[in-house]
Amino acid sequence: MEIAYYKDQFLTDVNEGVVPIQERGHQFGDGIYEVVRVYNKKPFMLEEHLDRFEQSAEAIALKLPYSRDELKEIIMEGIERSEEQNVDVYFQLTRGIAPRLHFYPDTQAVLSLVVKPSKPLAEDKKRDGVAVHVMDDERWSNCYIKSLNLLPNVMAKQAAFEKGCDEAILIRDEFVTEGSSSNLFVVKDGTLYTTPATRHILHGITRKAVFILAERLQIPMKEEHFTLEFLKDADEAFITSTTSEVLPIKKVDDVNLPTHLTITHRLQKEFKTLY
Ligand code: PDD
Repeated sequence: MEIAYYKDQFLTDVNEGVVPIQERGHQFGDGIYEVVRVYNKKPFMLEEHLDRFEQSAEAIALKLPYSRDELKEIIMEGIERSEEQNVDVYFQLTRGIAPRLHFYPDTQAVLSLVVKPSKPLAEDKKRDGVAVHVMDDERWSNCYIKSLNLLPNVMAKQAAFEKGCDEAILIRDEFVTEGSSSNLFVVKDGTLYTTPATRHILHGITRKAVFILAERLQIPMKEEHFTLEFLKDADEAFITSTTSEVLPIKKVDDVNLPTHLTITHRLQKEFKTLY
């Protein structure tokens, strides 16, 4: 069963709430969001997600209608209301409800939240990896903001899907940025490489978790820009996200990557110790 919350209250049914026509979230995509995974009723790296949520809000001059503790209480109540142990919590904040004018209105921001059972990834994908499709990164220059405006991401993901792939890998100015809904890591000669946390990527929480694990496992790490050729020449590569955790890449368009995934599998195993 899915649990839903909109504008200060929990709903009895996820389909019950009718969002007002003039909600800026759906008229302008004027808002921000987060996705948090919950393992055994415990939200994973919640403080980090809330930090990023606050940073995204500040970046678009959105005033949070709740204190951090109040927001946590709403999230925890959503988790408690679910019958499931392992869920994903999606929450978003929009600039509220006002007649459609581009200027920021003088309204209260509106929070909505959905709690739904986590969907485990197929075991063969977790073990052997997924295929990815490479595309131009057509997004704006503020990808560090977790904005509701996801049209380029949605289009890239769909294009990848139509090529039989699970993810689109994006290229900006000759360098790989990230996936349409994930960050990207390459392993080369025992060192882990990932794109630096600039404005051109989302600063992933799972990416952060991998940094912690790499340090613990004494795997050298470099935050460096790299090209598509470097990715295709990888010893191992993987994507990370809240819902994919650490997921190997087995194929980059027509290029098969090596099948020995020593470091990726070690990170996957160690990841479980974090929750
Ligand atoms: N997406 N990059 C992009 C563009 C993303 O949309 C995401 C996550 C990530 C990984 O971030 P994190 O590790 O914090 O989940 C990187 C979420 C899961 C989504 O939109 O559903």
